[in-house]
Amino acid sequence: LTTAAGKSTWSAPSNIALVKYWGKKENQIPANPSLSFTLNNCKTITSVAYEPTTDNGTFQFDFLFENKPKEDFKPKINTFFKRIESYCPYLKNFHFTINSQNTFPHSSGIASSASGMSALAMNIMSLEKRLNPNMSDAYFYEKASFLARLGSGSACRSVKGNVVVWGKQQDIPESSDLFGVSFPFPMHPVFNNFQDTILLVDKGEKQVSSTLGHDLMHNHPFAAQRFEQAHVNLTQLKNILETGNLTEFIALVESEALTLHAMMLTSMPYFILMKPNTLQIINKIWEFRKATNTPVCFTLDAGANVHVLYPEANKETVLHFIETELAAFCQNKQFIVDYMGNGAEEL
Ligand code: PMV
Repeated sequence: LTTAAGKSTWSAPSNIALVKYWGKKENQIPANPSLSFTLNNCKTITSVAYEPTTDNGTFQFDFLFENKPKEDFKPKINTFFKRIESYCPYLKNFHFTINSQNTFPHSSGIASSASGMSALAMNIMSLEKRLNPNMSDAYFYEKASFLARLGSGSACRSVKGNVVVWGKQQDIPESSDLFGVSFPFPMHPVFNNFQDTILLVDKGEKQVSSTLGHDLMHNHPFAAQRFEQAHVNLTQLKNILETGNLTEFIALVESEALTLHAMMLTSMPYFILMKPNTLQIINKIWEFRKATNTPVCFTLDAGANVHVLYPEANKETVLHFIETELAAFCQNKQFIVDYMGNGAEEL
């Protein structure tokens, strides 16, 4: 099972869910299907150098972040290797040097687990392809997403672009609980290069880790209704992406974001992850939308930052609004201008 020493480098983007994944079963199987926009600028770039070694029963690797050893990240990678070992039985025959960097600022509050785990999974598949050169591209990407899912659920949606569905859903026959697939229907052109400007409201440590967050959905009083609602919303969003009805898009996307937070408000223990400035921004967006009829809306992650979504055609107007009215509510007036992208790339 060994091969010569080698090296690969992949970039993988972050993604923003419109229908949210919140709650999971054993083995990172989602409790409901989700859909996300893959981003373009916010990414992790990871290179993996490997050389054959003797299997000593452990995973042998060094981890560097921006070229400097980072010990506190190693347990995460060790856990990931353990989870994927049965699907990648060659792992213990190599020593790996993993070197990672993000294109977005440190501790910006942007989750790097999706881009990071996806970039690592791509590199592992590059090694597997050297061991098995006849592997098809379809298999390569599907298994990369499958492995990324075992690292961090939402990471499976970062392998491909521009819109990705993860989780079995009746109306999307290609969909699977095990990996993400590109949205398989033609989309209305209003969604081409759809914009996402990320307002950095709070760059602090995450108050709730996503592992704990998903656990909160076990025995949650509204879990069953929520999982059912995600299916219904995904069917609706599928139609909206095809027809381009932005009014319906806005209502669905904002409702999904607030529902995610409603699940946290109503779990035990309960959490408020929005900050006062999150609410200020939401209200400003609503006022601006009403006053100008601009099709702009927000979505949220499991945190205080706000993702502002709008068509490319409205970029100038919305960026001006963000600079003059919303930046004041961000830490150090920081925001990141991004848009839909194509997924992981080999460098
Ligand atoms: O991939 P995880 O386990 O970090 O969960 C991500 C959960 C949300 O970002 C809140 C929603 C989503 O679908 O990405």
